[in-house]
Amino acid sequence: MSHVVDVQIYSLKGEINNYSFSEQNAQFVGIDWLQQVLDAKQSGSQLSVVTDPFDYQGVDQVIPMQPEQYFMMDYLLPADLHDAKVLEVGLGSGVLSIFALQQGAAMVTGLEINPRAKVYAGFNALINGVSDRLHIRDGNVQSIFAPVQDQQFDLIISNPPFEPTPPGMDYYLNSAAGIYGFTFVENLLKDANARLSDQGVLQIVTMAPGDREVPGMLVDAVKKYLPHGATEIICDLAPITYAAFVDRFVGIFGQDRSVIDAMKAEAATNGITHLHMCILRYRKNTAPDLQISFTPKIYEPWETPLGIK
Ligand SMILES: C[S@@+](CC[C@H](N)C(=O)[O-])C[C@H]1O[C@@H](n2cnc3c(N)ncnc32)[C@H](O)[C@@H]1O
Repeated sequence: MSHVVDVQIYSLKGEINNYSFSEQNAQFVGIDWLQQVLDAKQSGSQLSVVTDPFDYQGVDQVIPMQPEQYFMMDYLLPADLHDAKVLEVGLGSGVLSIFALQQGAAMVTGLEINPRAKVYAGFNALINGVSDRLHIRDGNVQSIFAPVQDQQFDLIISNPPFEPTPPGMDYYLNSAAGIYGFTFVENLLKDANARLSDQGVLQIVTMAPGDREVPGMLVDAVKKYLPHGATEIICDLAPITYAAFVDRFVGIFGQDRSVIDAMKAEAATNGITHLHMCILRYRKNTAPDLQISFTPKIYEPWETPLGIK
């Protein structure tokens, strides 16, 4: 019996830092789809990945390409990738790990809790010729780094779940992260230092709550959990208001207006008015410092709600 596989294919064409991902929706039946994906790969692109389409509504959606992945790829430094032993927390389609391997990383261990994503990441590693250097491991819901508790890495990367999520909502595993979208990031920052080698680097791309000017919750978490190194926070030029972001749960997902209003009221009480898309880059055992800057261009125009297209 043949199965229908409904996927989104992205192919990176062009030079590094000039990402023109061509994108196509595809519905394939049987084994022909594999040939079509391989054809796309062989048409000259450096990186091709298969993800779920935006309208796949299961909680196990393998996240499609969004502005955040492009932001992350632009800010991964060649020197940090060169020959590095890398850990990715939250593999998804594997796009960031595959990019890291193509740009010089020695090997990547990728943690993932979603079985569907592990299959996609394994497939994407194969078609990009890096499957021998990408080690896919089960993630741990309770304790992010438990699967690698006996190891240290030169570079830890993550595009973690970071969307403010209404309490009790059964939302995408790739995005659900408490009412501020910050629960996963906080746990990640709390335990990352111990998993880094001497002068190892942690780099994440995340949305972070704060006011109009700075992502204050991220700044506070860095001061609390990463005091022994140098941190850069690079904010996308255009933050979105917390209210505008969470209002979309009413219009798009049919959530109860009173629940969303309660989220907004709590955020206002805690001085949270905006959500910033940011890169955080932390260097362990480097003179303690915290620099905040802004990108020269807008990565996330907030034109399309995350998770829907
Ligand atoms: C925003 S997605 C990013 C996926 C991919 N890295 C990308 O950039 O396209 C976050 C991923 O983290 C995974 N995840 C959530 N909790 C996790 C955990 N405790 N350990 C490992 N992965 C986790 C989700 O299933 C999802 O695939």
